[in-house]
Amino acid sequence: MGRLMAMVRLFTNRGLFSNDNFCLRVQQAFCFSDVCVIAAKFPFQVELVEGKKYAWCKCGLSKKQPFCDGRHKTTKIQPIRFIAEETSSEVFLCGCKQTSSPPFCDGTHVSEQVQSAEISQ
Ligand code: FES
Repeated sequence: MGRLMAMVRLFTNRGLFSNDNFCLRVQQAFCFSDVCVIAAKFPFQVELVEGKKYAWCKCGLSKKQPFCDGRHKTTKIQPIRFIAEETSSEVFLCGCKQTSSPPFCDGTHVSEQVQSAEISQ
């Protein structure tokens, strides 16, 4: 794992991967990174059921956004597990993974940092 991690860091440091978000994904996948990648530049409107357990993807790698599909296992990041306090279809879960109030959107996705990021999914 150490040699692979070194190669990924070398490639990303030399700019061989032009997409910053892609570089983060590669590093996460192979280097047990603790950096969350941007999965989407917008929140996901979901329906939650009172009392039901959910796991919100924090790492940004899940293919079942905004929920966890287990891909965080290659990173140091854990999903945010929570129980819905009420049934509602008006819940907006963060897609950019930069929110300060996970798992909920706090509007951070409108920032230049998020909106200018390249996303590779
Ligand atoms: S989608 Fe992340 S803060 Fe809105």
